[in-house]
Parts: sequence; structure tokens; C-alpha cells
Amino acid sequence: MKNLAAGLALGLAGCAAWAQDQPSQGPASPERGRALLLQRQDTGCVLCHQIQGLPAGGALGPSLHGLAERSSPAQARERIADARRFNPQTIMPAYLSTEDLHNVAAPYRGQTVLTPQAVDDIVSYLFAKPGGALGATP
Ligand code: HEC
Repeated sequence: MKNLAAGLALGLAGCAAWAQDQPSQGPASPERGRALLLQRQDTGCVLCHQIQGLPAGGALGPSLHGLAERSSPAQARERIADARRFNPQTIMPAYLSTEDLHNVAAPYRGQTVLTPQAVDDIVSYLFAKPGGALGATP
């Protein structure tokens, strides 16, 4: 668990640099969201979640299958931005916060892990219609 946390912190820090290079304007892209969700080293989402339309995910967090039935895109976005708002003890990283983050490598302090655009892209994939162009089946 310690190693996973350290690995995630490193990977997440790496993603900040990557995310900063991306243009952050324009409509949300489920294709980009899918790619982000799949990045084990960067976002780590699939390390903890099973996600519709993506190969085998982890079980540290709940499966995201059927998410659209129990949550709105806005709620999911808030959760991804900073899951501590819902559960102060959560193990899920805060992707759009710079507050009270630990183990952040010096060059990345003060930066969020993901850009707002990247979070919008992820949410647009998670709420894409099942069987749509991306073949995301619940
Ligand atoms: C270290 C493990 C971990 C990582 C990495 C992680 N999550 Fe989570 N996530 C959790 C846990 C655990 C929960 C359950 C609620 C809680 O404990 O905060 C959760 C809850 C959620 C929920 C709410 C699920 C529901 O049933 O309502 C969503 C949506 C979500 N995560 C999306 C993501 C996305 C998108 C990413 C990547 C950007 C991600 N998570 C990365 C552990 C993780």
C-alpha cells in the first residue's frame, strides 16, 4: 500500500507536467478522457476502479459501471476534483486541488494533477452513452 501510494504520487506528479502542455480550451473529448482514464502511471484511475469499456481495473475503489444511474456529471466532476469533500479519509487523489497534498515532488508543488479540461474529458467519457461511438458498454 505504501509503495502504491508512492508510485501514484510519482506518477501523478509526472502527469501534472504532461497536463500543463495540453491546450485547455474547447469542448470535452470522451476520446481524450478514455486515454486519461487508462493511464496507470498518470491518473491511476484504472488502478482503483473498474470502468465501463476499459480493460480490467482495480478494486480499491468502487466499480464505476452504472455511474450515470447514481450520480450526475457535476457530482462526478466534484468527486474527481477533490474526493475529500465527500470523504475526508478517502484514498482517492484530489486531481484538481493544490491544498494539503503530501509527497508532491518539489517541481510540482502548487500545481494540480489534472487540468480542468482533462477532468471534463474524463467526465464526458464516464457519462458517454453505452454502445456509443466509443463502444463503452456498461
Ligand atoms: C487510490 C485509489 C483511487 C484512485 C487512483 C482513484 N479513485 Fe476514484 N474512488 C476511490 C475510492 C476508494 C472511492 C470511494 C469513495 C471514497 O472512498 O472516497 C472512489 C470514488 C470515485 C467515484 C464515485 C463513485 C460512485 O460510485 O459514486 C468516482 C466517479 C471516481 N472515484 C472516479 C475516479 C477517477 C475518474 C479517477 C482518476 C482520475 C479516480 N477515481 C482515481 C479510489 C480511487
